[in-house]
Amino acid sequence: MSIEKRVQALNEELQAALAAALTVDQIEVIRVAFIGKKGSITQLMQEMKTLPVEQKRSAGPLLNELKRGAEQKIKDAKAQLVMERAAQEEAKKQHFDVTAYLPQQPQGHLHPFTPFIEEIENIFLSMGFDIFDGPEIENDHYNFGALNIPQDHPARDMYDTFWLDVPNMLLRTHTSPVQIHAMETNALPLAGITIGRVYRHEAVDASHDYMFMQCEGVMIGENIRLSHLLGTAQHFLKTLFKTDSLDIRIRPGFFPFVEPGVEIDMRCQFCSDGCSVCKKSTWLEVFPGGMIHPNVLKAANIDPEKQSGFAFGFGLTRLAMLRYGINDIRHFYSGKNSFLHQF
Ligand code: DAH
Repeated sequence: MSIEKRVQALNEELQAALAAALTVDQIEVIRVAFIGKKGSITQLMQEMKTLPVEQKRSAGPLLNELKRGAEQKIKDAKAQLVMERAAQEEAKKQHFDVTAYLPQQPQGHLHPFTPFIEEIENIFLSMGFDIFDGPEIENDHYNFGALNIPQDHPARDMYDTFWLDVPNMLLRTHTSPVQIHAMETNALPLAGITIGRVYRHEAVDASHDYMFMQCEGVMIGENIRLSHLLGTAQHFLKTLFKTDSLDIRIRPGFFPFVEPGVEIDMRCQFCSDGCSVCKKSTWLEVFPGGMIHPNVLKAANIDPEKQSGFAFGFGLTRLAMLRYGINDIRHFYSGKNSFLHQF
């Protein structure tokens, strides 16, 4: 075969190979096969050295052109492929769905307290109560003094207090101090609740934790009476436990910041004749409260001769345990998925 024919055949072969290549690696294989050390074009050039001078003169430029052309074609084909791949990647990204997720990926959800707190707030909001907020770090005055628990009062023993390194400062032992903040910052009449964490230096067991949640409520105005407290407790408990027939009963109870102080119990929702939850009594102690002590009103510059009010402060953690049938307080902050995913 003449040199011209062989050059043409190699050219066509190369073009066909490049057209079929799908990856840069494949092009590299083609490059080696044609212009590598043992490539077919390289070999043809080697052969040329053995030709007579006459033929060398005409074949030389042809072969040089073949080699130069091959190099260019391979380079172009590579560049073309890189560009095409980049365009394809770009197109893929345009259709990337950021909302797509793996269905088997576990999804988080709200801690059981969150919807429970919202439910309680909504019940009180529907009765016209406001939502108050107060600090978890308090001083002696708000946590004790203004609530009629002076220094050395034995009632301080009820609260195993976490004192801070700063004199007079503590982690609040109950949400009652928010009553005082509310009286100081709101005009009368006022009604509101607050829900939040409280801290006590307790040994932890199934029903005690050193941090738990309370809900404090307060209503102050002219002629506020104990019957208002009872009605509020009854409506709240009926709505929360979704029943029309909820018995409540009232017993005397002692808290320094109320006079009289009461314990409001509700009929056990888990049995009719005594069970372990109600300790065989059929009653559950859920709602302590009373009429705000005149000393407390005075501490917030309210005249107890003209205004009266009630307050209550129930354990929200305990109520959540009753409502959901949870038997160990430690579950709430254990972080165990097997517990949390039930809600
Ligand atoms: N602060 C009390 C406690 O933590 C609960 C309480 C009782 C709050 C009676 C009140 C109340 O407002 O009137 O044990």
